[in-house]
Amino acid sequence: MKVLHLDSGIFLEQSVSRQVSQNIVNKLKEKQDITLVHRDLVANPIPHLAADELLAEEKPLINELVQELLDADTLVIGAPMYNFTIPTQLKAWFDRVLQAGVTFKYTEQGPQGLVNGKKVYIASGRGGIYSQGEAQAMDHQESYLKQALAFIGITDVTIIRAEGMNMGDEPRQQGFKEAEQEIETI
Ligand SMILES: Cc1cc2nc3c(=O)[nH]c(=O)nc-3n(C[C@H](O)[C@H](O)[C@H](O)COP(=O)(O)O)c2cc1C
Repeated sequence: MKVLHLDSGIFLEQSVSRQVSQNIVNKLKEKQDITLVHRDLVANPIPHLAADELLAEEKPLINELVQELLDADTLVIGAPMYNFTIPTQLKAWFDRVLQAGVTFKYTEQGPQGLVNGKKVYIASGRGGIYSQGEAQAMDHQESYLKQALAFIGITDVTIIRAEGMNMGDEPRQQGFKEAEQEIETI
């Protein structure tokens, strides 16, 4: 199985989403042989998308990122919530892999995703709690990820969530515990 592992937490060793995404990859390794590509979007950032790149005849970085996506059977995406949405580093990746005519196309019935048969695990880290109550409306992180992936045809998405990370020791331990329990079910 080919796994594309993306990380976008800025705190590197201290990052919650990186810890969870690594545990997901470890679990997948336990279960089968995997070929792993790790793209660290913080250690090796890709720039914000600009018109020059998008309009150029040759698009080496876009092609490379799209090919990595198409080659993978499974994606593991480390995605913390920063200011209610995903980190800018991860957005720069989405800005390149959502390519009309390649990963989705427009039809008379509306847009159609062209990336089929992939499984995605999202390692979601959040300082607060957004999975219940009124705060659910403020989540533009997991909701964005599900929407953007569905747009290119990826609907088999499992969210492994560690939330309440900045609410004190007890919620933090509880958040980690829930993420670990979810990983055990993979
Ligand atoms: C720039 C920045 C913005 C953040 N914004 C939010 C936020 O909007 N809501 C929230 O609950 N936590 C927020 N946090 C806290 C992170 O979601 C939390 O620390 C989480 O564990 C981050 O994952 P990471 O450790 O992988 O970076 C923010 C953290 C940073 C650094």
